[in-house]
Amino acid sequence: MTDLAIIGAGAAGLMAGIWAGRTQPEHEIVMLDGAAKLGAKILISGGGRCNVTHAQVEAQDFCGSTPPAIAKVLRRFEVAQTVAFFRELGVELKQEESGKLFPVTDSARTVLQALLQEAQRVHVKLLHPRRVDSVQRRETGFLLRGSWGEMTARRLVLATGGKSLPKTGSDGHGYAIAQALGHTLTPIQPALVPLLLPGAHFICSLSGLTLPATLELRSASGKRLKSITGSALCTHFGLSGPAVLDMSRHYLAAQRAANGATLQINWWPEKSFEQLEQELQQLGRATVLAHLRRGLPERLARRLCDQAGLAAETTGPELTRGQRLTLARLVTQMPLPIIGDRGFNFAEVTAGGVPLRELHLERMESRRCPGLFLCGEICDVDGRIGGFNFQWAWASGHVAGVSAAT
Ligand code: FDA
Repeated sequence: MTDLAIIGAGAAGLMAGIWAGRTQPEHEIVMLDGAAKLGAKILISGGGRCNVTHAQVEAQDFCGSTPPAIAKVLRRFEVAQTVAFFRELGVELKQEESGKLFPVTDSARTVLQALLQEAQRVHVKLLHPRRVDSVQRRETGFLLRGSWGEMTARRLVLATGGKSLPKTGSDGHGYAIAQALGHTLTPIQPALVPLLLPGAHFICSLSGLTLPATLELRSASGKRLKSITGSALCTHFGLSGPAVLDMSRHYLAAQRAANGATLQINWWPEKSFEQLEQELQQLGRATVLAHLRRGLPERLARRLCDQAGLAAETTGPELTRGQRLTLARLVTQMPLPIIGDRGFNFAEVTAGGVPLRELHLERMESRRCPGLFLCGEICDVDGRIGGFNFQWAWASGHVAGVSAAT
């Protein structure tokens, strides 16, 4: 019987393995991963640069379990500790203006190699491809089974990630293992995922256009539920870009709650409907296009004029009240008829998972199944774009690794 088995060698599992090995050098620690190629998700993260963490990480940057529960784990391994940990591994991080931290090499491979080398240095046995199909609780530990055979372990860390990008190995099977060991799951849905519009929508014809925008999620009664300002990207299928990805989990959760929530976009975030409407009233001899171009790309400005049923060259005296109101509404409060999302093959993370209330958070140990530890994306925690999801993986992986070894 091995002392500790870790299922999943992604960010959280590697972190747990390293800290377990550092904590108990004499223990046998075995890490199993179903993927033929390890660390695929780390390698593609941050556009191949790996956004390792963020300068300011607060519980409010995450959704899922409650902020106090998330904060409790984050506090146990803070950003400064992540920076020091990677420095010790020979990976210097640099902070960008946005607060995001990347390796100075601008290469995710630096991060993956450092983690794998450290896991090896502390004698973690890394076995792959070794997908675990089932786990059973036994009196003295856990029995793990797969097509490769079976093994027993005194303690177990489940770090199987979520369902996003299943081709990297994170196919959601870990959820079934967690359930078999007594856990429940909150609803699972894609997060940080592009949103789809009907193919004929004019936004799809603006593919490639990137611009700042404000997205607003409103309830059926018109109450503002969430507002996010940032970069949006028009694509051939609909909308993407950081602001859209960050909004996606809120929109999808609201849809699931079937409360008739709607999403709208303000293409000119500095202007409210009332402001723009007033400016259009005072247009004088200037054309609508000339005014809109002060805040919008010309391609978009022309399409919005088309949608409002007016010529872009219309001047102040020619603009009717109806056209003015329609145009101001389209620019600042345009409803987005979202028809779906791009799914787990394109989602950067998974929302939902094992609720933190089912864990002893100071150890990340299961309340349902003693000896079982969970960390990373399998937990009901998902962060916004900017390095927050990895910080969760490092923090929860650290706590799980140290605790599982002691
Ligand atoms: P992760 O999914 O990384 O690892 C789980 C591992 O478990 C996999 O290796 C899988 O093969 C293995 N596994 C699953 N089931 C198994 C089984 N039954 N048996 C054996 N092994 C099994 N975050 C961030 O902070 N900054 C960023 O720059 C990015 N960029 C980014 C880009 C893209 C395209 C994606 C898809 C995601 C990101 N993320 C990100 C999110 C980040 O990658 C993610 O939150 C973490 O990798 C989660 O780490 P985990 O270790 O929990 O799961």
